[in-house]
Amino acid sequence: MNRLPTFISAAMRLRLLLLALACAPLTQAADIERGKQLHDERCLLCHGLENYQAAASKIKSLDGLREMVRRWEDKLKDPFTALEREDVVAYLNVSFYKFPEQKKVSLRTQQTSAASATLRERR
Ligand code: HEC
Repeated sequence: MNRLPTFISAAMRLRLLLLALACAPLTQAADIERGKQLHDERCLLCHGLENYQAAASKIKSLDGLREMVRRWEDKLKDPFTALEREDVVAYLNVSFYKFPEQKKVSLRTQQTSAASATLRERR
């Protein structure tokens, strides 16, 4: 009778630990609101948002998107800091491109169970 709660709390502790690990990137995650603000202030000089929905987009990955932002940033008098760039990339990805790296964060429950499975396998 005593064993069960102990077992559950050990399992819970493991789950909480895994959840905390899975959430860790979230705490340092890019600030999407800030990214939108920076983008709207500085990136709408030549084009609107329609560019980002083009079926013929040349951008095929999150790295590609980051590269593109960096490229256009060169046209600005005042380039982004690395953090600001990540915010803009995150904003564009969440709003338009939806490349998987960001999804992993929102699907952290699945990620956590995948991590548990990996842990089980390793034992
Ligand atoms: C000097 C004008 C100009 C400025 C300023 C500018 N862009 Fe662009 N941008 C363009 C043009 C023109 C294209 C389309 C041609 C191309 O894709 O090479 C484009 C395309 C893009 C694309 C690719 C769209 C796709 O999916 O194919 C992205 C992403 C983008 N711009 C982001 C930005 C960001 C972020 C900023 C602000 C840092 C910015 N742009 C500022 C002119 C500009």
